[in-house]
Amino acid sequence: MIKVQNIIKKFGVGTETEIEVLKGISFDIRAGEYVILSGKSGAGKSTLLYQLSLLDTPTEGSVNIGQVEVSNLSEAKRSRYRLEKFGFIFQSYALNKDLTALENVALPLLSMGMARKDAYEKSKASLDELGMGDRVENYPEQLSGGEQQRVSIARAIAKEPHILFADEPTASLDLANSDQVMDILDRLHAAGMTIVAITHEEQYKDRGTRLIELSDGKIIRDTDA
Ligand SMILES: Nc1ncnc2c1ncn2[C@@H]1O[C@H](COP(=O)(O)OP(=O)(O)OP(=O)(O)O)[C@@H](O)[C@H]1O
Ligand SMILES: [Mg+2]
Repeated sequence: MIKVQNIIKKFGVGTETEIEVLKGISFDIRAGEYVILSGKSGAGKSTLLYQLSLLDTPTEGSVNIGQVEVSNLSEAKRSRYRLEKFGFIFQSYALNKDLTALENVALPLLSMGMARKDAYEKSKASLDELGMGDRVENYPEQLSGGEQQRVSIARAIAKEPHILFADEPTASLDLANSDQVMDILDRLHAAGMTIVAITHEEQYKDRGTRLIELSDGKIIRDTDA
């Protein structure tokens, strides 16, 4: 599904402070896998996820999805690809504070060109599925952290993405809410979703079907669970 070939990512290229954050990374992700990316702070986990999910482009190497070398596409095409094919969950939820829960979930669907009625129906169904059906009119600040994260998951899955990317989705949550979010990811995976999730929390490392561990910009472990 995704083929990553010899990715190198440098920041500050050509300056005195140039640093190489990813030092030649290669692996494939197959459809239906649930990959956990782990490793110490600064190992390069988020940087790798950004290259995979087309939020950034590698300095060297390539990312292919199916037959397409996506790392070569124009920014406009990459952003269209992200919108239509990828779901994202971040540590800080990344909700729009001026929009209700329902509007937050509907926004990407409307951007994709879905008719208003369909977008809102789909968004409501997605929030229902995450147990947030009675909070659709609430703004993010009226919701707890766990509830906001469930809205952001509803937003990520409403468009039925090919892949769900999560960067430390539990890092801002207490234990009960963290467990709940990880249980939701389990359910989505069981229903067929391909997932790539970063966590550095020991207790969640074995949740996936595969564990990839990074250290200092390199893969030091890649094992099926
Ligand atoms: N835009 C940037 N410019 C310069 N350096 C960067 C940039 N983004 C990341 N880095 C550096 O790359 C290294 C890896 O960062 P990254 O965010 O990928 O780590 P991480 O494994 O996700 O860590 P954490 O667990 O703390 O989130 C760090 O040393 C970081 O300072
Ligand atoms: Mg990170």
